[in-house]
Amino acid sequence: MDTKKLAERLAEAGQSHILQFWDQLSPEEQAEMSLDLKNMNFIEINNFFKNAMKISGQSSQEKVDSRMEPVPREVLGSVTRDSGCLKEWEKEGLRCISENKVAVLLLAGGQGTRLGVPYPKGMYDVGLPSHKTLFQIQAERIRRLEQLAEKLHAKKCCIPWYIMTSGRTMDMTKEFFLQHKYFGLKKENVLFFQQGMLPAMDFNGKIILEGKGKLAMAPDGNGGLYRALGTQKIIDDMKKRGISCIHVYCVDNILVKVADPAFIGFCSLKGADCGAKVVEKTNPTEAVGVVCKVDGRYQVVEYSEITLATAEKRSLDGRLMFNAGNIANHFFTLEFLSEIVRTYEPQLQHHVAQKKIPYVNTQGQLIKPDKPNGIKMEKFVFDIFQFAKKFVVYEVLREDEFSPLKNADSQDGKDNPTTARHSLMSLHHRWILNAGGNFVDENGTHIPAIPRDGPAGTVTPEVSHLKDGTDLPIKCEICPLVSYGGEGLEHLVSGRAFQPNLMIDESGVHELVKNGL
Ligand code: UD1
Repeated sequence: MDTKKLAERLAEAGQSHILQFWDQLSPEEQAEMSLDLKNMNFIEINNFFKNAMKISGQSSQEKVDSRMEPVPREVLGSVTRDSGCLKEWEKEGLRCISENKVAVLLLAGGQGTRLGVPYPKGMYDVGLPSHKTLFQIQAERIRRLEQLAEKLHAKKCCIPWYIMTSGRTMDMTKEFFLQHKYFGLKKENVLFFQQGMLPAMDFNGKIILEGKGKLAMAPDGNGGLYRALGTQKIIDDMKKRGISCIHVYCVDNILVKVADPAFIGFCSLKGADCGAKVVEKTNPTEAVGVVCKVDGRYQVVEYSEITLATAEKRSLDGRLMFNAGNIANHFFTLEFLSEIVRTYEPQLQHHVAQKKIPYVNTQGQLIKPDKPNGIKMEKFVFDIFQFAKKFVVYEVLREDEFSPLKNADSQDGKDNPTTARHSLMSLHHRWILNAGGNFVDENGTHIPAIPRDGPAGTVTPEVSHLKDGTDLPIKCEICPLVSYGGEGLEHLVSGRAFQPNLMIDESGVHELVKNGL
């Protein structure tokens, strides 16, 4: 690239400092930097900065709080209150799947900073007896669901899996799937695409350098999805395949019901173009956003954007007033997504996160600041709720569907590998009990069921004495290829009593010696 032209473009955007170390770079480093800068639109980035700062300055928390209203009952479906409708919703969802109308879309472009691993979160093994990774568990759920729909409707079907990665996660994710032969899915039905990246800026709108020839870049938030859907021609691919609805979800929830037929059926039968799955938020400080209305329009107010006073507000029944906890599982029709990409994406504003961003100073030394020195700009996946013509909310049980992996085991016992592993094994334990099986200890005494999870992904009270990394008294894992949501287990377990180490996979039921799983 012509360096002079590049310098001119940067000068015009007030970003000339980016080239301050140019003469100290090797020809290879210069070439690499030129490549990085070539497709960047600095004027657009400056505008993103200006708008994001303006919005974040305007919307002081009190103002958002005073404009919030809870989700009205009429848009809400619940697996408990409306349990009588579940079968019908599920049937409808499976019908849509059998007609090849359903796709799933995984948001996997995050950096997993809190978990602190140098590879994509989906590759994480939380220490289940099978040592399956999050990606494998999700892939097997997709395969099982295809089988269920096929069996019910006696025709072959496929649920295409779109996986959004970022510049930081693309290569490793693709390589991992290749290595594992797409976990039994057809390669042509697993489609990777990449979201955009944006530079971090200091508080004066100057792009931060993390090396003499390197900008501090980060993915543009999970709402980067909408731009990527257009630029990477994903909408076109979905249209070609005849998709009509899409389940979008986050990578980190070990209990995620990928393409959940009941959720899809509920949204479809309600004629919704957009839907959100929620769990009841019971702890005001839990790090989940809340689905609500702001100025009469649906929105998620993030946990970082709500004041404690509002988060703590309670209704007359004693429950939190804003209790529709967003678990990042969304339903969209393709028509709605197409409209977003075509019309509304540019209107979505970036959210600002103040961060401590390592930078090189004018002497070229790398400095790790101890307080925030700049911002990252991110769009959020749920910011399109406001454009829905018909929005619905679907409430599910936390212990059945939500246990995210956010932190490493060392951090205060929340949303970590241990809680994720325990949640999955407790769920599978309950499936065995529901299917008529039992667990006995070495004396043949029945072991009672493990009650519900404690609040907010904490370790269950019964096992709270167990340290991170240790395990439940009952270790039970059921391969998703055997059961998607607890179905199809009766003939395997009914009337049987099992030792507390149980694994059920396609080859059958295996009782394993203690610690030998
Ligand atoms: C997210 C939700 C929050 C919800 C919580 C539940 C958003 C913006 N926030 O918060 O409302 O209560 O999950 O667990 O959705 N990702 C990308 N690209 C990015 C950034 C993130 O694909 O640029 C993906 C991540 O890989 C992950 C998902 O988005 O799968 C959520 O990202 P994360 O940063 O973990 O969101 P939370 O802050 O936990």
